[in-house]
Amino acid sequence: MFIKKIRLQNFRNYEDEEFEFEKNFNIIYGDNAQGKTNIIEAIYLSSIGRSFRTKKDSELIKIGKEKAIIELEYERIDREGNIRIEIDNKKNFFLNGIKQKKLSDIIGKVHIVLFNPDDINIIKEGPSQRRKFLDIMISQLKPNYLHILNTYLKTVEQRNIYLKQIKVENKPEEMLEIWDIRLAELSEKIYKYRSYYMQKISEKIKDIHNNITNCGNLGENIEILYLNNGENQEDFYNNLKNSRKTDIKKGFTSTGVHRDDFKILINNKDVESYGSQGQQRTSVLSLKLSELEIIYDEIGEKPILLLDDFMSELDEKRRVNFIDTINDNQVFITCTDKICLNSDNNKIYKINQGKKYND
Ligand SMILES: Nc1ncnc2c1ncn2[C@@H]1O[C@H](COP(=O)(O)OP(=O)(O)O)[C@@H](O)[C@H]1O
Ligand SMILES: [Mg+2]
Repeated sequence: MFIKKIRLQNFRNYEDEEFEFEKNFNIIYGDNAQGKTNIIEAIYLSSIGRSFRTKKDSELIKIGKEKAIIELEYERIDREGNIRIEIDNKKNFFLNGIKQKKLSDIIGKVHIVLFNPDDINIIKEGPSQRRKFLDIMISQLKPNYLHILNTYLKTVEQRNIYLKQIKVENKPEEMLEIWDIRLAELSEKIYKYRSYYMQKISEKIKDIHNNITNCGNLGENIEILYLNNGENQEDFYNNLKNSRKTDIKKGFTSTGVHRDDFKILINNKDVESYGSQGQQRTSVLSLKLSELEIIYDEIGEKPILLLDDFMSELDEKRRVNFIDTINDNQVFITCTDKICLNSDNNKIYKINQGKKYND
């Protein structure tokens, strides 16, 4: 699959700019703070429905303007499509000109995998970043998952409000039953998706990581451990029921799939606590490359790669190896210095203060 073009109107530092892309490599270069990542962000938004940099949509609108518009044309094996996102007080999504009701209606049309220097946070910044990684990957493949997850998270919020009301207003504790039953139902569904994809990652990541780390010696052994909070409705319900007293005291729900996590072990040691900087970086790279393969296996098309400032993370040798492994995907690369690649279908844009210059 590939993106044919994107038009940005009043998005970040762009006033009105259109970019046409090639099937292979698209290189976006320029000095710092000129608008390179903004293009990657717009593509990401068209795929995932939200930014990877901010939760505040208002930041996406060009300062002094009221409405940002992103319009993207893509092509897949069997169809073409057009995604349009309008951002003002709220976000509206259009697919082929038709307004969509839910975010999950546009997600999964354009499949992407983002690589950027912040990926290391998946290891360093605790469980929430790891859940986010997993949730975004699954959502792209199973949009219904996103719907179930959002319903679950809203229900947790309602339960939390009620917990506080029990404490402060003496509301009856038995009423928690309603939320606990509902949460247990949703939890089982979420757990099933997550454990399925955790298993897929486990299968893929071993070889990938072994190859990356194999420099004449034996490569490292990597393992992924899913730290779940239960497996079926009964487990989740019992956990919730058992933690009612503590939850009322704390004012929030302390057990459930919203506390799930996974560990990455390298040669049997937790890479979060014991891994070197280099091991942490490579294990995230292996994780992302596993995601790439899983998406390909499942949709039968190569996902689009967004490499934001990522090439600068790799030394020359690893850069060449990396490029070799991703030859059939459409790739977007941002960098400060123009890089040349041995490939025909290239497009190179220079970006300066929110304007494009053809190379
Ligand atoms: N809402 C906005 N309105 C106008 N300019 C913005 C907005 N958000 C970000 N910018 C500008 O975009 C630039 C950063 O773009 P970015 O794509 O992150 O740069 P880089 O080329 O380094 O990747 C900065 O100059 C910033 O001031
Ligand atoms: Mg940038």
